[in-house]
Amino acid sequence: MSGCPYFEKKHLLFKNKLPKTEDEDASQAGVNKASKGGIIYGDYLQLNKVLSAQVLQSELKGNKIHDEHLFIVTHQAYELWFKQILFEIDSVREIFTNEHVRDERNMLKVNTRIHRTVTIFKLLVDQFAVLETMTALDFFDFREYLSAASGFQSLQFRLLENKIGVPENLRVPYNRCHYKDNFSGHDSEMLLSSEQEPTLLKLVEGWLERTPGLEVDGFNFWERLEINIFDGLNQEREEIEKMPDSEEKEEMMVELVKQKELYSSLFDEKRHDHLLSKGERRLSYKALQGALMIYFYREEPRFQVPFQLLTSLMDIDTLMTKWRYNHVCMVHRMIGSKAGTGGSSGYQYLRSTVSDRYKVFVDLFNLATFLVPRHWVPKLNPSVHTFPYMAECWDSSYCTSEDSD
Ligand code: HEM
Repeated sequence: MSGCPYFEKKHLLFKNKLPKTEDEDASQAGVNKASKGGIIYGDYLQLNKVLSAQVLQSELKGNKIHDEHLFIVTHQAYELWFKQILFEIDSVREIFTNEHVRDERNMLKVNTRIHRTVTIFKLLVDQFAVLETMTALDFFDFREYLSAASGFQSLQFRLLENKIGVPENLRVPYNRCHYKDNFSGHDSEMLLSSEQEPTLLKLVEGWLERTPGLEVDGFNFWERLEINIFDGLNQEREEIEKMPDSEEKEEMMVELVKQKELYSSLFDEKRHDHLLSKGERRLSYKALQGALMIYFYREEPRFQVPFQLLTSLMDIDTLMTKWRYNHVCMVHRMIGSKAGTGGSSGYQYLRSTVSDRYKVFVDLFNLATFLVPRHWVPKLNPSVHTFPYMAECWDSSYCTSEDSD
């Protein structure tokens, strides 16, 4: 007799078939509902259309290249996910446009949909890895059959950029052409309206401007913050001045002057407007104040969901930048520095798009520059402390029936 438990089990498995357990019987229970009529899987998903849309140009030209199938499926998968992202972004824009966010219960819906968009983007960033299993030589075998087709002509990608808020004047031109030159008819009209409708950025801006606590005749966060910061810096200066002369003291003074300049710039509305006109800031002065307030009071129950939203908006920017980066790395690997099928310089053009010019919520990233020690943040005294819970309650949550889809 062997002492090996595996040996013993093997005997059991082959010699004495185990009787059926209750679980196994239960696994066979049920009725085949499909046989009783109603819509079935393939029809519901219209798979006849979706799965017959993979037409290999190489095969049509009598030279079937295996990897072209992967190339087509990958692009189609991207376009389907773009469609879902547009669906989510459109619905969020609608909630904002109809002012449904004044009912704060709808903020959860906004957050969920933006977070879903973020999750899809993560998938899209990683999805390039599948296409990268194709070698440059494999791609070369069928590239000529693509003719002038290029992702550059992806309508959904451009709609996405526009609806989120990539500014028209900051786009990198290609061949000194406008991206819209690639589109005509209905597609052109769709692009035009996506440029004219309020972008996600604009809508978020309007919402931030209403952040409770910014009211000059109320908590007046901005003025209090300015006072606290400059009091804090003056105290630091006094501390440094008490130190004996040394290199360290000098360095600390230089750093303090820099800090003062930095915070003076934060409270300088004219400077803000100048940066806005250059595209270096995107949010209005008031909206920036709202965003900073949400950052500082993120632990207050009323600001927790708004804080999560701001975080997700930054995630979208980060992931779109990663998408551009992964795409350009793949393009470099596939075509080196050859021109693109769409007619751009290819790698060089794409590389120039991996930049802050395309970041929509760039101000939210930059806010981290202006964070201050916790004890400089204006305190909510017991009477003011109620604002994060009360300010908009009466025109929102419990008195209106504002609901959204
Ligand atoms: C072998 C794979 C790929 C190669 C070699 C490639 C190449 C290129 C090139 C060279 C461009 C610049 C425009 C041009 O002159 O054609 C471009 C743009 C673009 N491609 Fe790809 N691509 C590939 C895969 C993909 C995939 C899977 C997608 C997913 C949808 C995609 C979407 C785009 C988009 C949206 C643009 C416009 C980017 C912009 O203008 O900022 N590409 N591609």
